[in-house]
Amino acid sequence: MAITTAKAATYHNFIDGSWMPSVAGDVFENRNPSNTDDLVGVFQKSTRADVAHAIDAARAAYERWRLVPAPRRAELLFRAAQLMADRKEMFARDMTREMGKVLDETRGDVQEAIDMTFFMAGEGRRQYGQTVPSELRDKFAMSIRQPLGVSAIITPWNFPMAIPSWKIIPALVCGNTVVFKPATLTPLSAVNFVKVLEEAGIPRGVVNLVTGGGGDIGNALLVSGDIRVVSFTGSTEVGRTVSDTAAPSFKKVHLEMGGKNVVMIMDDANLELAVEGCLWGGFGTTGQRCTAASRVVVHEAVYQAFLDAFVEKARALRVGDGLDPNTQVGPSVSEAQRETVMKYVEIGREEGATIACGGHALTKGAYAKGFFHEPTVFADVAPSMRIAQEEIFGPVVAVIPCRSFEEAVAIGNGVDYGLSASIYTRDVNRAFAAMRDMDTGIFYVNAPTIGAEVHLPFGGTKNTGNGHREAGTAALDVFSEWKSIYVDFSGKLQRAQIDSADI
Ligand code: UN1
Repeated sequence: MAITTAKAATYHNFIDGSWMPSVAGDVFENRNPSNTDDLVGVFQKSTRADVAHAIDAARAAYERWRLVPAPRRAELLFRAAQLMADRKEMFARDMTREMGKVLDETRGDVQEAIDMTFFMAGEGRRQYGQTVPSELRDKFAMSIRQPLGVSAIITPWNFPMAIPSWKIIPALVCGNTVVFKPATLTPLSAVNFVKVLEEAGIPRGVVNLVTGGGGDIGNALLVSGDIRVVSFTGSTEVGRTVSDTAAPSFKKVHLEMGGKNVVMIMDDANLELAVEGCLWGGFGTTGQRCTAASRVVVHEAVYQAFLDAFVEKARALRVGDGLDPNTQVGPSVSEAQRETVMKYVEIGREEGATIACGGHALTKGAYAKGFFHEPTVFADVAPSMRIAQEEIFGPVVAVIPCRSFEEAVAIGNGVDYGLSASIYTRDVNRAFAAMRDMDTGIFYVNAPTIGAEVHLPFGGTKNTGNGHREAGTAALDVFSEWKSIYVDFSGKLQRAQIDSADI
């Protein structure tokens, strides 16, 4: 592999308002998954000492930031959103280079961050509490939102700007300060995002960025008594470690984890629409979304017709470098991720599912220096097979036949995850019944399982989440806690529950 370190820029951590190298001086390389000769940049391999510095800075800054009126905090966020909009194209290109998804989708990722930032900045003038009548005369009762303190933000590589924005922006608008640890595979988008916040005028110490591997840095954040809330998006396995490690210090933990989302296609569905939806839901972002439509349950009456059309179109998808405007499906993000895809293709084969198309890594010619894999459709999948139960996070879709609506719902719910589900039907009764009965946090009618918008809650049930939601005003619940306030203006002792009984 050609080493091009000389030409690539070195990027620093951002701590207490300054860009600085890691204390230990170690670095790591970030390479383009479409062509590993392309070195995107060199980043700091941080240590516990860097995390400790960042936490100290965030703790000191919190004492000032929490007192900045929320509408003023929001003003800085509006400015940040505008800066992101101005740089959308550049950020999208950087993102495609560092993690591979096609330009249209990285533009969408940056747009999601812009939308979230504008939306959340608006919350600076809301953050409503409640005012209620008191049980006593001459007494006033209300509740207000309070920030928690220093927040740890740990984010994945598949939405390198959108997901950090879902967490960092509500944290800030509520008055928390931030230590941000992005995925090792996408540090450039994190640097771009933090630079925007810096330029927008966020005061020093309020947002701190520490790059590097999850183990040590993540652990240092999770055990710290100075961190009061952790927001994590990633695998269920790592989420469990996050939860266990954070528990003894009683910090609030928000987890957003795996998915095994289902599209249910009924016998009355518009099949053409369903095929388009399954292509986008299954192979968009190379299947590397927690919302990806990795299972398609199809009524037997339309099973063959759906499968034929779906396979024909999946086979025709153009795989390649995401910077090429003709590309529809980019590479897996890393060699390890592609190996996971190949492992599951093997598992599916051994389990007896039929490979209807794809099934191989792409390694020749233009593909030789990247982590490409054919879009793969498994047909005649049984619901209990591992390829229908476990999250693959790659361009692999399992098609499962069913005999009825009720069976589709049972199969759909028959997994450990509960993020997103969808139904294609023209029957309004079935659509509403499925909407109620699918055990997921997100549900779609006549659309695939992906494409959530920033102003509604995002999250899932079962092993997908731990009861919280991000996005929408639900995010404010993650990053604030309630204070109830009673003001007694009677000038005498009033005894709640005693004097209140005396009308
Ligand atoms: C994710 O896959 O981790 O709804 C997030 C969607 C996107 C977000 C996906 N707006 O598919």
